[in-house]
Amino acid sequence: MISKSTIDRITETARVEDVVGEFVHLKKRGVNLLGLCPFHNEKTPSFNVNPARNIYKCFGCGKAGNAVTFLMEHEHYTYPDALRSLAKKYNIEIEEENQTPEQAAIRDEKESMLLVNAFAQKYFSDNLFDRPEGKSIALPYFKERGFTEATIKKFQLGYSLDEWNAFSDAILKNGYAEEFLVKTGLSIAKDKSLSPPIGGRGGEGLFDRFKGRVMFPIHNLAGRVIAFGGRILKKDEKTAKYLNSPESEVYHKSKVLYGIYFAKNGIVQQDNCYLVEGYTDVISLHQAGIENVVASSGTALTTEQIRLIARYTKNVTVLYDADPAGIKASLRGIDMILEEGLNVKVVLFPQGEDPDSFSKNHSSSEVQQFLKTNAKDFIVFKTSLLVEEVKDDPVKKALLIRDVVESIAKIPDPIIRSTYTKKCSALLDIQEQILIAELNKIRRSQLKKQTDREEAESIPLDLLPVYQPLADEDAEHQEREIVRLLLIFANHDLHFVDIIQTEEGKPVHTGSAGEVKETTIKVSRFILNELEKDGIVIENILYQKVFTEIFSLIQQQELLDQQYFIHHTDAEIANLAISLISSPYLLSDNWATMHRIAVPSEEFVLNSAVKGSINAIKIRSVMKLLKENRDKIKDEYQSGKEIGSLLETQQQLEKVKMELSKELGIDVLK
Ligand code: CTP
Ligand code: MN
Repeated sequence: MISKSTIDRITETARVEDVVGEFVHLKKRGVNLLGLCPFHNEKTPSFNVNPARNIYKCFGCGKAGNAVTFLMEHEHYTYPDALRSLAKKYNIEIEEENQTPEQAAIRDEKESMLLVNAFAQKYFSDNLFDRPEGKSIALPYFKERGFTEATIKKFQLGYSLDEWNAFSDAILKNGYAEEFLVKTGLSIAKDKSLSPPIGGRGGEGLFDRFKGRVMFPIHNLAGRVIAFGGRILKKDEKTAKYLNSPESEVYHKSKVLYGIYFAKNGIVQQDNCYLVEGYTDVISLHQAGIENVVASSGTALTTEQIRLIARYTKNVTVLYDADPAGIKASLRGIDMILEEGLNVKVVLFPQGEDPDSFSKNHSSSEVQQFLKTNAKDFIVFKTSLLVEEVKDDPVKKALLIRDVVESIAKIPDPIIRSTYTKKCSALLDIQEQILIAELNKIRRSQLKKQTDREEAESIPLDLLPVYQPLADEDAEHQEREIVRLLLIFANHDLHFVDIIQTEEGKPVHTGSAGEVKETTIKVSRFILNELEKDGIVIENILYQKVFTEIFSLIQQQELLDQQYFIHHTDAEIANLAISLISSPYLLSDNWATMHRIAVPSEEFVLNSAVKGSINAIKIRSVMKLLKENRDKIKDEYQSGKEIGSLLETQQQLEKVKMELSKELGIDVLK
């Protein structure tokens, strides 16, 4: 956390006119400054900046705030990120406070990884421009692809030398720790068991992941390098065309869009985001003057990526190569965009072209014109695409209708949905009413699925009780009581009356002939059985010793000899036995004080005392499991994993706990 005093320094130092001035052209108007509002579309300026009060206000759309809120609104920074960016701008040192050592460690680790990536980016760029191998092989490769030097510099492209550990050596020599080279995936440890060692070992244990590849750095929203993609230079090599950095603490593939750092302002200005497949598509379109473009980089589009776009615009235009298999495969991804409430258009490129090749063969204005004139509404596009295929086959047509309506059903806005049922009824040549009926059916089942899911998901964090494991003294006391009962009453009999189940599974009441069975069992056997059955172990080391010894003695001879323990060769055990056996309180006293009930008979008391002690120890063990399981639910839930079976376990454990508590006759423990 950034300390309060640092926040104060930042807000006192930051000048709203400086910060806004980086994004808005401001003109002096009296004591104030005036410009075109960056938050809404306007032709006459109504965006007012007041340096004296250090605030801005737009008299058109009403947006108002200070330097920090401006960065949050305009740059979509989080509050701490806005503060950090201002601290950097004004050279204010950030004082952190209240970080736990773990938080600090993670923060340091991430920062170290980012520093390693920054070094790598610069090193790879230097290879490209300054080293013979880069200048003679890699730079010509990029030029051949039509990238200008300005473009190469803007995207910080580079080259990793065709040597096994040129990079690893260089960065180790510069004092970076091997641990972070491995964690960022830039280097691979030859011997896995050695990773991640700390400190330089000369690098002989590392080799460069991206050996001999041209490098595409991947930036986060703040423009820092979080990962790399590396491409082979030649067409026909056997190895994968692209290699990418592995997932890491700083690179979560599913949350990242390639190019977002360079695109975000353009996306807001154009109120549209072009979505392409690859690194080179993004770069070429930029060079053609189209800056509102990002790539999913070869992976299937994720909801997180879509939500990232949705922070900047509600309009997405997907750019496709005209490869029918590819189009079909990505239809699903587009449904996901609709589901997030975004409007989707598609542009189909001519056969054999992708945005990269198309931009290379056409002028900027041709590319821009092409995108403008070829953008089609997605639902209309999908419908006409499939209509071609089904021709006059009525079965296929029915399936197609279902398919299209399923896409429409994903759209959250009912008005937009209804415009689509109209359009598609015309395209498909089918009555709108039929589409609407089908749509309603699908919506109903979708809604049900969703509420089911939400219900399941909303349980854990808020509704699950917090389990306090019982205090250690309680545990010790319980274990001591078990040992005491064993030492004193091991050879006593316990009587249980079991009710035998009839064949239909109904219990037969006491009194009906022959179905009630009385069992007799020694206290020692009962306790050992019960604890063993539930895998409960005595934790206190001394009690555990006694317990194990009793256990093995009982295996040999049914009766336990108290004298054996009183004169035990292990003085500690002997002392314990003596103090337990000679303890001043009797069973009934103990029972009465522990459970505050009147004592009916010696036998009942022994029964209850043994059962009670066992139950108490079982409850403790269940509580521990509940707590562990709850922690697990929280973790898995937060990392977005399936928690259904964990929730089930939790319910079962809860049930066991209830039953045990009921038997024990105590209030349900929280
Ligand atoms: N990709 C990848 N690994 C591969 C192939 C592709 O990660 N083996 C990702 C890259 O992000 C790539 C994107 O998928 O940019 C699209 O793949 P493709 O169209 O094959 O590559 P292009 O971007 O067209 O690259 P190039 O023009 O250099 O062949
Ligand atoms: Mn390509």
